[in-house]
Amino acid sequence: MKNKDIYCLAIESSCDETSMSIIKNGTTEINTVVVTQIDIHKKFGGVVPEIASRSHIESITIVLEELLEQSKMKISDIDIIGVTYGPGLIGSLLIGVECAKTISLVTGKPLIPVHHIAGHIYANNLKERLTFPLIALVVSGGHTDLVYMKEDYSFERIGSTLDDAVGEAYDKVAKILGLDYPGGPIVDKLAKVGNDTYDLPYPLDDKTYNFSFSGIKSAVVNLVHNEKQRGNDVRVEDVCTSFQNRVVHILTKKTKKALEEYHVHNLVVAGGVAANQALRESLNNMARDNHIKISFPEVKYCTDNAAMIGAAAYYAYQKGITANLELNAKAIDSLYKGTENHK
Ligand code: KG4
Ligand code: ZN
Repeated sequence: MKNKDIYCLAIESSCDETSMSIIKNGTTEINTVVVTQIDIHKKFGGVVPEIASRSHIESITIVLEELLEQSKMKISDIDIIGVTYGPGLIGSLLIGVECAKTISLVTGKPLIPVHHIAGHIYANNLKERLTFPLIALVVSGGHTDLVYMKEDYSFERIGSTLDDAVGEAYDKVAKILGLDYPGGPIVDKLAKVGNDTYDLPYPLDDKTYNFSFSGIKSAVVNLVHNEKQRGNDVRVEDVCTSFQNRVVHILTKKTKKALEEYHVHNLVVAGGVAANQALRESLNNMARDNHIKISFPEVKYCTDNAAMIGAAAYYAYQKGITANLELNAKAIDSLYKGTENHK
């Protein structure tokens, strides 16, 4: 007999996107609604936490109504409720968590707490079922991690950034160069037309799986400052190319090392920076040369969205991970709570 389909209502509000999605069986997107606050935060050059949480409050019920309407579904058609409980901005997370708890209370359906990074990794599952064991390279605005996964919903972090996350470094470099927020996609675009002429330092090129991007970011700050003092123009495109080449080089090198040393042939890339064209090209080449199966999420699933949370929630549910109404949002939660029961 065919197993019953599981429909997950997923909620993601960890930063500046209010998003809800309905995902069937962890693989199929029924519908997703995202309200982005990028234009609101743009004028401040970054996300303002207080404004972000207020915007979530204004949007969240509208997003839910729109999602159900677009999906032609009723709340009673939902089997489980998945929500990002952390990490992220506490005021923003709380809105999503309270909303999820309320829906769970009203419907009596299980509440599934999802770690934001587990969501980013499972964005790949919406394209093609993950194959294990795998190495996940997580590159976002808040994380730069190498993760070993033996099986579904089992996360062993083998390396991480010691300071800035790679997306954060992109955004800061963009800001120094006078580019808009979020800067990552703009730096990516300009890097395509620039030349690698600036002698920037390589980010932490050692034997560990850890990363460090604050050195190269500071080098860009000093370079811009010195050129201005000398009355020289900064060649913005060339700075972008020089910065991006070094970052992509080190991300590729350490990922390759992890795949070799863990004897793994599956690589998934996750997080906002997984949209980066140069990183995609470099990792694709490395994967081809080393017979690695590689997966990137569709670009729309790279940055924050609830579809990825719905995909992850299904596998968390299969593992018996549920929460009760005491579930709390967590701003910092460095562990991948694969097996912990939140009850
Ligand atoms: O995963 P995400 O939406 O948020 C976090 O969970 O942190 O990632 C957002 C980050 C931002 O820093 C943004 O600049 C970066 O991803 N990003 C990119 C690109 N697209 C988004 N960075 C480099 N190249 C891109 N094409
Ligand atoms: Zn994210």
